[in-house]
Formats: sequence, C-alpha cells, structure tokens
Amino acid sequence: MSPLLLLTTLATLATLALGAITSPRDITPLSTCLTTSSIPFLLPSSPNPTAWTLHATTFNARLPFVPLAVVLPTTTAQISAAVLCASSLNIPVQAKSGGHSYASFSSGGDVLSQTLVVDLENFQDVVVNNTTYVASVGGGVRLGNLALGIYAQGERALAHGTCPGVGIGGHFTHGGYGYSSRAYGLALEQIVGVEVVLASGEVVTATKEKYKDIYWAVRGAADSFGIVTTFYLQTVPAPSVVQFSYDVSDALASSALATSAFLAVQSFALNASVVTRELGLGVTITASSFAVHGTYFGSIQTFNATVAPALLNALKQAGAKVAMNKSSVQELTWIESLTRLGGAPTLAVPLTGYDSRDNFFAKSVSVSNPFGEKPVKAYFDVVVREGERAPVDWFAIINLYGGPDSQIGVRNESFAAYAGFDDLWVVQNYGSVTLNETFPKSGMAFVNKLNDAMTNNLPEYSAYLNYIDPTYTREQAYKLYFGAGLVERLSKLKAVLDPKNVFRNPQSIW
Ligand SMILES: Cc1cc2nc3c(=O)[nH]c(=O)nc-3n(C[C@H](O)[C@H](O)[C@H](O)COP(=O)(O)OP(=O)(O)OC[C@H]3O[C@@H](n4cnc5c(N)ncnc54)[C@H](O)[C@@H]3O)c2cc1C
Ligand SMILES: *[C@@H]1O[C@H](CO)[C@@H](O)[C@H](O)[C@H]1NC(C)=O
Ligand SMILES: *[C@@H]1O[C@H](CO)[C@@H](O)[C@H](O)[C@H]1NC(C)=O
Ligand SMILES: *[C@@H]1O[C@H](CO)[C@@H](O)[C@H](O)[C@H]1NC(C)=O
Ligand SMILES: *[C@@H]1O[C@H](CO)[C@@H](O)[C@H](O)[C@H]1NC(C)=O
Ligand SMILES: *[C@@H]1O[C@H](CO)[C@@H](O)[C@H](O)[C@H]1NC(C)=O
Ligand SMILES: *[C@@H]1O[C@H](CO)[C@@H](O)[C@H](O)[C@H]1NC(C)=O
Ligand SMILES: *[C@@H]1O[C@H](CO)[C@@H](O)[C@H](O)[C@H]1NC(C)=O
Repeated sequence: MSPLLLLTTLATLATLALGAITSPRDITPLSTCLTTSSIPFLLPSSPNPTAWTLHATTFNARLPFVPLAVVLPTTTAQISAAVLCASSLNIPVQAKSGGHSYASFSSGGDVLSQTLVVDLENFQDVVVNNTTYVASVGGGVRLGNLALGIYAQGERALAHGTCPGVGIGGHFTHGGYGYSSRAYGLALEQIVGVEVVLASGEVVTATKEKYKDIYWAVRGAADSFGIVTTFYLQTVPAPSVVQFSYDVSDALASSALATSAFLAVQSFALNASVVTRELGLGVTITASSFAVHGTYFGSIQTFNATVAPALLNALKQAGAKVAMNKSSVQELTWIESLTRLGGAPTLAVPLTGYDSRDNFFAKSVSVSNPFGEKPVKAYFDVVVREGERAPVDWFAIINLYGGPDSQIGVRNESFAAYAGFDDLWVVQNYGSVTLNETFPKSGMAFVNKLNDAMTNNLPEYSAYLNYIDPTYTREQAYKLYFGAGLVERLSKLKAVLDPKNVFRNPQSIW
C-alpha cells in the first residue's frame, strides 16, 4: 500500500471510529439526490477507489480529512443542484479548486465535518477578451495553467503566487501574493467579476455594479458564501523581469548580525528614492541560509545602477557580507521568471490526476508598521540558537507587501472583505516532514516558537488569510484574519445569503 493510500485509509478508519460515537451520516439520501440530478460524484465506497483517493486526499497530509462525498460537476447548473441537495440534508459544502488549503478546508477542515466537496477540476477555461483584456477563468484552474493560458493569448499577465499547483479558487479569493503584487495588487484586487453559486442555488454574476455585496464578500470570504465557477480578471501586458537573489547567509553567525541585516533590508525597502512598485521583495530564511530576493520590472541597467547599490550598501553598513558567488541577477521573460519562481521545470500542471502533497504546519504574522529591533532580535535568537536542531524541516519567508508606491496599499476594506491591504510585511513560518512520517508535536511547538518570538514583541499584528492556521479558534481566526468590523458586516450578509450555514468550515463566517 502506498503511504498516501495508507494515510487515507487510516483517516477513514479514524472517521469511522469517531463516527460510531457521533453517528455517521446515512449517505443514501445524498447519493439519491445527486443521482436524480445527474451530477457525477464519488463516494468512499465508489467502484473506482483510485479516483476516490485522488479527489479525496488532501494536499496537506498532516490533515487528511475525509469528505462525505466528492462531486465532479461539469456545469454550473450541476453545482447549483449539488448545493441544493446538500442544503436540504443539512450537509456542509466546500469548493475545492487547487486543494492547497493549509487547513484542508476544501475537504471540510475537521475530522467530523462530513462535508460535500465540490471539486472544480472540470472548470478549466481560460479565455482573454481582446477588447477589455479581461480573462474569463474557470474556478478550477491552477496558477501555472492560468499564467500560460493568458500569456498564450496576447502575452497577458496577472499578479499571483508562485506555486503552479495552487488553485485560483482559494488563492484569488483570500488575498493572493506574488512578486508582481506591489505593481499590480494582490490576486484578489484583479477580480472584476465572479459568477457564483449561492446557498439558495441561485447563480449570479457579481461585479462592482451588480450584486455589489456578494462581489465584496466573495473577495475575502468566498469559502463562507458560495462557489465561484468563473472569475473575471483584469490582465496587464506581461512585463520583462530582472530577477535577483543575494546570499547573506554569513549574517546567521549571530542573531545580532542577522537582526542588523534584516533591519538593513527593511530600511532599503522603505527608501522611496529607490523603491517603486516595480520592485517585488522577499527574505528567505532557514537554519543555514539568509537570502534577499525578488523581481524588478525595468531594465537591468537601471536595477544595477539604482536598486542593487542601495540594497548592497545598506547590507554593507550593517556589517553583513553578501556572497556574490552565490548571488544572481538575470534578465528573464515573464514566463521564464514565473517558471524559476515556481521551482518546477514547467508551469504546466496536469488538468487531472494532480497528486503532489506536503506534510506541514505553517503560520503567519502580518504587520502594517515597520519592525522594531526587538521582535526581529527575538526571532533570530530562535533561528540561530535552535534552527539547526529543529525537530522538523523548516523555512521562513518574509515578503514585502507594502512600502513606497505599493499598489496593494491603495485599497481598503470598503473595496473587498479583506483586512490586509495595509500590510507592510507578511512573515510565513513553515515546518514540514516527509509524507510517511507523523508530524511531531515538537514540530508544531517549534513553528509556534518562531511565530511567538515575533508576536510576543509586537504591539499589533494580524495574520495572512491564505496561510490559514487551523490551530486558531474561530474567535482568534476572526480577530487575526478579519477584525471586528469586517466580521460584523460579513455575519449580517451571511444571515441573508446563507441562513442555513451551508458553506462552512471551522473558521468560516457565522
Ligand atoms: C506550495 C504552496 C505554495 C503557495 N504559494 C503561495 C504564494 O506564493 N502566495 C500566496 O499568497 N499564497 C501561497 N500559497 C497559499 C495559497 O494561496 C492558499 O493555500 C490558497 O488558499 C490555496 O488555494 P486552492 O484553491 O489551491 O485551495 P483549496 O484548498 O481548493 O481552497 C481553499 C479554500 O478556498 C475555498 N475555495 C476554493 N475554491 C473556491 C471557489 N471556486 N469558490 C469559493 N470558495 C473556494 C475552499 O472551499 C477552501 O475553503 C501557497 C500554498 C502552497 C501549498
Ligand atoms: C469582450 O468584452 C466586451 C465588453 O464587455 C464585449 O462587448 C465583447 O462581446 C467581448 N468579446 C468577446 C469575444 O466575448
Ligand atoms: C486575442 O488575441 C490573441 C493574439 O494577440 C489571440 O491569440 C487570441 O486567440 C485572441 N482571442 C480571441 C478571443 O479572439
Ligand atoms: C548587472 O549586475 C550583475 C551582477 O550583479 C552582472 O552580472 C550583470 O552583467 C550586470 N548587467 C548590466 C547590464 O550591467
Ligand atoms: C536611500 O537610497 C539612496 C540611494 O541609494 C541613498 O543615497 C540614501 O542614503 C538612502 N536613504 C536611506 C534613508 O537609507
Ligand atoms: C564563494 O566565495 C567564498 C569566498 O569569498 C568561498 O569561501 C566559497 O567557497 C565560494 N563558494 C562557491 C560556491 O564558489
Ligand atoms: C477607503 O477607500 C475609499 C475608496 O477609495 C475611500 O473613499 C475611503 O475614504 C477609504 N476609507 C478609509 C477609512 O480610508
Ligand atoms: C520516507 O519517504 C522518504 C522520501 O519521501 C524516503 O526517502 C524514506 O526512505 C521513507 N522512509 C520510510 C521509513 O519509508
């Protein structure tokens, strides 16, 4: 038995065992309803166990929640009918696009949830309108195929994350950051319309003119409000890219030096005389590496003459040595750049049969003000003292969202149900083990320790919705991901649009 199948089987047994206490659902009414509506679906007992395993297995092997059933609709009408079946039987529903939810929310998000998963893998259209340059994109398209699809139709581009296997559905509706986001906004900001199936089964196309409240709510809280079948996205002409990476690993010799190096990067990042929206920036940290990398949309001459010297001088003044032989500055096409960032040989992702997985726990810290020395020093104390002997593999990435001229910061909560428009930095701490191991408690503790080192020394912080952390209670999640004002407005809308709480997961709006 493959490790994946073993995990899935163990999870199924766990669900059955718990189900014995919490009364497992009788699947017959649901399967009868789906069959009557001619909706393709899979059950754990399906005659094709391979198809079930493929569609029911979570990306995050640490949280292998087993859905009640998976529907594989081919039309919006089928999605609508499936939602009505579930609603009439009080079965929770979650859409699944790329399946990359950190919390396995697209499989229900809880061992007891018994969720109907609406897998959007048949919604793969990518069509660019040559008058408006708006792309109509199916709710199941993965980011690599999205980038290739719009580039092939007139060399168009969108800002979005780096991993080609991530799905549009979760990523675009919960923020969505890529190195081009300072130039073009978060993935979410490029949505000009959504075709969405509501809890009532109604299908609406929501824009800033029509169904405004739905348009607003879906951009930030789609998982609580419906299933987006088609996204309408405003594309831009693809830029050419200068891609850079500077190795500053020597700074990890001490936490004091690493702190100075990071604060030097921050002072560079806030320097409006050199930093414009054309710059995307991140700092990647492991136990043995510290790199400053990103992209610049402009000529390599301008980069070498202005941006690079400002960054390198700041690091030098902080006493941090840049290993030029482990650094690089290259001119790339848009697609070459995305391919490098994606870390796979190609951006193309199979339309069906995607089975890449990871076994991980991650969390995030977002700040809207520059870091003071204290949280950074406390953070590097953990990195330098404990990083090498951490109980799990880990990395951290600190991305610049705000700063001079960032196009993310021009919006606010009146634009979308999203709290992160004023983020300056977003830090992600990510721990993982191989698929055949059990993620240890000590690994959870280590990732928490990294995160806490910062948050214990910050007056204010929040967290990034696309790096959703399932260990938060609903109340903590509301506070960190949305804030009271947004939650209040969303709850009121939820009561109107989804009074039976059909679209739910452990942290959804209610
Ligand atoms: C390897 C990897 C790399 C990543 N890189 C980045 C990055 O560079 N930048 C970044 O910002 N984030 C990144 N992320 C995080 C990623 O953006 C989120 O995990 C995202 O929510 C995944 O979207 P998905 O469609 O694949 O997930 P899913 O698990 O399918 O969905 C996530 C949530 O959204 C809901 N949902 C999905 N589709 C729809 C829909 N059509 N309508 C309504 N609700 C829907 C689901 O029900 C679920 O609650 C990365 C994640 C991974 C695993
Ligand atoms: C492109 O969009 C315009 C404006 O919405 C619309 O009138 C036109 O029909 C679209 N073109 C195609 C080919 O769909
Ligand atoms: C738009 O133009 C591109 C070439 O610039 C072409 O490849 C594509 O097919 C056109 N799209 C439509 C819908 O006509
Ligand atoms: C820019 O700088 C890099 C080294 O940092 C160098 O390899 C490259 O040749 C330079 N390019 C130009 C056009 O100056
Ligand atoms: C900003 O960058 C310019 C150009 O490199 C430099 O001269 C200036 O000292 C920097 N300012 C700060 C506050 O670092
Ligand atoms: C890079 O240069 C340093 C000396 O500056 C040397 O110690 C190291 O081995 C070199 N690394 C590579 C990969 O060439
Ligand atoms: C939010 O943005 C809108 C539109 O740009 C603007 O009118 C409003 O004043 C902003 N609100 C706040 C609190 O900044
Ligand atoms: C676990 O998986 C890794 C690769 O992911 C493999 O190298 C290792 O041998 C496996 N260990 C066991 C005990 O199966």
